[in-house]
Amino acid sequence: SDRPRVLSGIQPTAGSFHLGNYLGAVRQWVALQETHDAFYMVVDLHAITVPQDPKELSANTRLAAAQLLAAGLDPDRCTLFVQSHVPEHAQLAWVMNCLTGMGEAGRMTQFKDKSARQGADRASVGLFTYPILQVADILLYQADEVPVGEDQRQHIELTRDLAERFNGRFGETFTIPKPHILKETGKIYDLQDPSIKMSKSASTPKGLINLLDDPKATAKKVKSAVTDTDTVVRYDTENKPGISNLLGIYSTLTGIGIPELEQRYEGKLYGALKTDLADVVVDFVTPFRDRTQQYLDDPETLDSILAKGAEKARAVAAETLSQTYGRVGF
Ligand code: ADP
Ligand code: NA
Repeated sequence: SDRPRVLSGIQPTAGSFHLGNYLGAVRQWVALQETHDAFYMVVDLHAITVPQDPKELSANTRLAAAQLLAAGLDPDRCTLFVQSHVPEHAQLAWVMNCLTGMGEAGRMTQFKDKSARQGADRASVGLFTYPILQVADILLYQADEVPVGEDQRQHIELTRDLAERFNGRFGETFTIPKPHILKETGKIYDLQDPSIKMSKSASTPKGLINLLDDPKATAKKVKSAVTDTDTVVRYDTENKPGISNLLGIYSTLTGIGIPELEQRYEGKLYGALKTDLADVVVDFVTPFRDRTQQYLDDPETLDSILAKGAEKARAVAAETLSQTYGRVGF
């Protein structure tokens, strides 16, 4: 393929993806499979950097894959796989670990945030080195671009640094990847506190739209979203973060531009916007839930899709690892 290659991963978190994951990441992955040679994975190796329950991890991994397929990833248009099915990730990560300085790894700000949540002493060494596993994830596929949110930019810089260091020391081996920063418009905020982003860890249940929740409960959350005491429906993230968030969700899910939405709700109250948006969200989540359930109800099909994906991924990964090992002197 002469299309640029992209590689991206998503954690197999408990329960379902939320609307932020979908609009901010997964939906853009679906679009990229049409224009890029796309590799997408469920990063279960990353999931064990914090304590996990084995049964839950394997269930969550399949659930994540089922949701990615339900969202529109097509195994004929992209390579979809589970990270642990491709042992080369851990193998290349070791080489990259040995190329990284302690101080360099310590400067990764995500580790500081994540380890602070667990108590710095109890955080695992795996959590400390997870950005280096991410480096291996990317370099294994010789990815040209990595679709990430702004918060991951530092890890792409590390990837570029290590790739250049390896190439300089051992000879041209790795493609130097570029970040493909996901659109800011895809950023979704908490429905109850629009000053924070919608997130599994920080949102309260009422502020978070989980895609697999009962659609009726989801409609209720949309209708009780926090807005402001004004009445004009206008996109203004500074003064009207709640309304702007609702307009952003509405626009991304329907493809209707924000100026057109502002016009439609001219002279109408917030309630009208919320009621219509509740319908829009329900119209999205209802078939999404059904499709996810279909994959979960048919484990043989799901397993076979993931086995084929791993086979395609391994063909590329094994080639890169073999070259790398040769250069290192193995
Ligand atoms: P969470 O913050 O809920 O733990 P993750 O960090 O696992 O979610 O995010 C997975 C992907 O979803 C990332 O690519 C991230 O950029 C995207 N994402 C998460 N929350 C949001 C949000 N509120 N708006 C837009 N994108 C988001
Ligand atoms: Na996050």
